[in-house]
Amino acid sequence: MTDDHTHTHVLDFFTPRAADWDSRFPDDGPAYAAAAGLLGLRPGDTVLDAGCGTGRALPALRAVVGPGGTVLGADLTPAMLEAAARAGRGASGTLVRADVARLPLRDGALDAVFGAGLISHLARPGADMAELARVVRPDGVLALFHPIGRAALAARQGRAITDDDLRAEPRLRELLAGAGWRLESYTDEDDRFLALASRQG
Ligand SMILES: C[S@@+](CC[C@H](N)C(=O)[O-])C[C@H]1O[C@@H](n2cnc3c(N)ncnc32)[C@H](O)[C@@H]1O
Repeated sequence: MTDDHTHTHVLDFFTPRAADWDSRFPDDGPAYAAAAGLLGLRPGDTVLDAGCGTGRALPALRAVVGPGGTVLGADLTPAMLEAAARAGRGASGTLVRADVARLPLRDGALDAVFGAGLISHLARPGADMAELARVVRPDGVLALFHPIGRAALAARQGRAITDDDLRAEPRLRELLAGAGWRLESYTDEDDRFLALASRQG
């Protein structure tokens, strides 16, 4: 379900960072829990954490769908999934190695997709968002989250914020619309980026 040749940069970037990924961001837990609570998920629902990394969001997603729900975590980088397993995140959801460009899921299988820190790493964001739309039921939800806003992230990385950033609201709205999503809300604050979209029928 992966094409490693087109994802060399992702594997090269995340493999050496996997082992201490969680310890670099020790205070993010409450932000993930708050974001998971905004997807409108109900007990028994099915949700995918796309680009789950070390599975930091999985306990929060499990908490909202309950024991009767289904939580999947998919990631391209084996080292991130191994770190997720070591951290016990497999207790909250099923960990799968998969490329969001080609998910091993049937059409409309999911109620929602959560993607944290994902979109800026995608090789083909339009096609990848369309694949996420394929696997979500009509009126299902996409949440693109980051525990830091665009301006604060740019400052941390010592660069300027720019309007050609995929996460800038007009660009993101257009990208999502072309992939079967309607942007319903957009929040870009220092301590939270959250775009919520609904799957068009
Ligand atoms: C910035 S990390 C975020 C990880 C996790 N969501 C979190 O919030 O801690 C981005 C993750 O996306 C994964 N990723 C990038 N491109 C992907 C793709 N095409 N399919 C699946 N996962 C991908 C990377 O391997 C990495 O684990």
